[in-house]
Amino acid sequence: MVDTWSFGSVPGPAIRARAGDRVVVDLSNGLPAPTTVHWHGIALRNDMDGVPDMTQAPVAPNTSFRYDFTVPDPGTYFFHPHVGVQLDRGLYGVLVVDDPAELGAYDHEWVVVVDDWVDGTGRTPDQVLASLRAATGSGMGGMGMGMGGGGMGGESMTSPLLGGAGDVAYPHYLVNGRVPSAPVTLTGRPGERVRVRLVNAASDTAFRVAVGGHQLSLTHADGFPVVPMTGDAVLLGMGERVDLLLPLGDGAFPLVASAEGKQGQGMAVVRTSTGPVPTPQVRPEELDGRVLTVADLTPAEPAAMPVRRVDRTHDVVLGGSMSGYEWTVNGRTFDRQRPLDVRQGERVRLRLKNATMMFHPVHVHGHTFAVVDGNGRPGVRKDTVIVSPMRTVTVDLDATNPGQWMTHCHNAYHGEAGMMTTLSYRT
Ligand code: C2O
Ligand code: CU
Repeated sequence: MVDTWSFGSVPGPAIRARAGDRVVVDLSNGLPAPTTVHWHGIALRNDMDGVPDMTQAPVAPNTSFRYDFTVPDPGTYFFHPHVGVQLDRGLYGVLVVDDPAELGAYDHEWVVVVDDWVDGTGRTPDQVLASLRAATGSGMGGMGMGMGGGGMGGESMTSPLLGGAGDVAYPHYLVNGRVPSAPVTLTGRPGERVRVRLVNAASDTAFRVAVGGHQLSLTHADGFPVVPMTGDAVLLGMGERVDLLLPLGDGAFPLVASAEGKQGQGMAVVRTSTGPVPTPQVRPEELDGRVLTVADLTPAEPAAMPVRRVDRTHDVVLGGSMSGYEWTVNGRTFDRQRPLDVRQGERVRLRLKNATMMFHPVHVHGHTFAVVDGNGRPGVRKDTVIVSPMRTVTVDLDATNPGQWMTHCHNAYHGEAGMMTTLSYRT
């Protein structure tokens, strides 16, 4: 039991719509701080995007704001505030946009949200940010060149898949708001096929997710269909979502979300018949099997972006300063940003270059991009993509949604410490 901030529950109430629907959400702010809601992954109108002082005024305590927008594309999305590190409280929920034309070759759907948790355990996220700033300010430094291996709590947080894996050792990792010693149970019948909508709502943690005794078939990435890929586990950065098809076995199985490069995990129980509840520390061997990452994915035909000449290219260099807890884009923190200018109708290429020793999941608001593949062609559609240490990921997008759109690291602490910029439409 902890005190936290939430939308009434953790995760918040799920919102469900059909592609093309108009969605109206009344936010009334009962928090002691200003807030907003951002609709992560939705290509919506810019003034409903929930970015304070950019697309709207922050919503003051005891006031309200009506979000009113159309959801063009089916898929698995989520929503969270875009103020400070409020995302690292309990302020998140899932938004599912159904495809009226889809046949639905599955028997059930489970929405599974993974999260890293500190709030109410003696430190708030704001206090965590303050101690990160204090630790680096006092010369523990080396931001961008190894902070990912240090962090708080003495853990060495690195991962073979990601390199520097985080700044914060969390006391808890959650699946659908629960710790592993009191897990949620997801039920079905042996042989049924379940569509799992998996969302990483964490602030500083990538998760490796697997279900003991099962293989996963990955069917959608950030809402858009991919050529189905089968594996044992899947790696998900902060802000990323995947849909999985899971043919259920007979028994009781652990669904484990292992905090990548950190110590600890979240767990849920998958139950189709009798069998003991798995222990909180259980580590299914699937976690060390074939781990699906973005490199394994190709877009399904309707999600493929046509090949086209690139009209404009921007370098987006992800960096860290050597003094203080500062993260940068093109050498600048957000308050001194140089926006990435685009014009409506252009095909825009962003070269996301990670000049640090820590991974950064980069998210672009209001658009989906194609991750450019090894042959220089537009590949899997995403709105958030992991950029590993010292690597470059190139993405292409079509500038078809005018406005001012945040482009930032979805590590809540990195974003708040400066690693944000704007994709800015000019006329
Ligand atoms: Cu979920 Cu600006 O992000
Ligand atoms: Cu980052």
